[in-house]
Amino acid sequence: MTQIFSPAADTWLRLFLLAGLALTAGGLVMVVGVARSDYVTSSNFRPSQPVPFSHRHHAGELGIDCRYCHSSVEDGPHAGLPPTATCMTCHSQIWTNASMLAPVRDSLAENKPLSWTRVAKLPDYVFFRHDVHIAKGVGCETCHGRIDEMALTYRAKAFTMQFCLDCHRDPAPNLRPANAITAMGWKPQGDVRAAGEAIAAHEHIRVGELTHCYVCHR
Ligand code: HEC
Ligand code: HEC
Ligand code: HEC
Ligand code: HEC
Ligand code: HEC
Repeated sequence: MTQIFSPAADTWLRLFLLAGLALTAGGLVMVVGVARSDYVTSSNFRPSQPVPFSHRHHAGELGIDCRYCHSSVEDGPHAGLPPTATCMTCHSQIWTNASMLAPVRDSLAENKPLSWTRVAKLPDYVFFRHDVHIAKGVGCETCHGRIDEMALTYRAKAFTMQFCLDCHRDPAPNLRPANAITAMGWKPQGDVRAAGEAIAAHEHIRVGELTHCYVCHR
């Protein structure tokens, strides 16, 4: 039998195939890297807003509870953004002439809601509700970060599928008692896992079923 390829050509072929493989793998790493970066997942996204509303000031320094402004977060799918009337409970008395608040006064006078640019949003094909998470012991901070330290609101965490699944696979270490749901900078005391397992049992959390596709895509 005659040899079609010399042994040297065979080596070259192998090298060529290996290089091809390495390039493909490298390309994949790059694609995954870009997909996970802030650019695509847009965490840290800070849009400009009609009024420079500061959570640091209102939620942090003044200590107003999240639910005062996001009043449907416990009983519905959406947290809701506050109507202008909520701002006016205070701002009809303080800072009444500040030019910074002119859009708030106009909104009240014209009966037109302020149009805030959303920073935390999921694609339409993902199903999510706030009420369930709040009721079962997931704090705002776990998903939205230290809102009380934000002068202008930004998206602290990228809502990737991985982010949701990491907790759905094993919620216990991420749970808090009901009285700490809106607390910022909260630290668990003692045995985190034991405390979390106790909350999960008490709330009848369906551990093991929460990663099924239909939970979030229906
Ligand atoms: C519970 C009272 C209260 C509510 C409700 C409230 N504010 Fe304020 N706001 C304040 C106080 C107090 C200040 C600070 C005045 C100062 O710095 O001396 C302030 C200051 C501001 C400022 C000036 C910039 C800053 O943060 O220092 C803006 C803008 C503002 N508020 C917007 C809003 C908007 C918009 C809403 C409704 C979504 C709202 N506020 C609701 C109490 C309130
Ligand atoms: C005084 C009213 C007020 C309080 C108190 C308040 N918020 Fe807000 N929140 C707003 C307003 C107004 C916006 C829309 C403007 C902006 O994004 O800053 C907003 C926006 C947000 C957003 C971004 C939503 C989006 O998709 O654009 C999150 C997340 C949020 N708030 C969480 C919280 C949490 C958590 C707390 C408690 C620690 C809190 N807020 C307390 C008024 C308030
Ligand atoms: C398990 C994660 C999670 C927790 C816990 C959570 N959020 Fe959210 N939040 C989200 C996601 C995801 C969105 C985007 C929802 C969408 O686009 O449909 C969102 C959106 C919002 C918005 C935008 C407006 C709206 O109605 O959706 C506000 C305001 C908000 N959250 C406030 C809060 C507050 C206040 C708390 C605590 C009381 C809280 N969130 C707890 C994940 C969470
Ligand atoms: C830190 C933990 C945590 C994170 C992060 C989290 N979840 Fe959950 N999720 C839970 C827990 C706990 C439950 C309650 C499960 C139960 O009652 O058995 C739940 C329940 C749900 C449900 C079921 C609601 C129903 O109809 O009963 C949906 C849908 C859901 N989560 C979607 C999401 C999405 C989408 C994200 C990411 C944006 C997310 N979750 C992030 C902990 C989390
Ligand atoms: C706990 C919630 C949750 C569960 C469970 C879940 N997903 Fe997702 N999924 C998401 C979120 C959130 C996104 C949006 C990601 C983004 O915007 O980056 C997503 C995006 C996707 C996408 C769009 C492409 C992509 O990767 O961005 C596909 C396809 C998908 N999911 C398939 C599945 C399948 C198949 C399962 C079951 C094995 C599943 N998902 C289970 C939350 C979930």
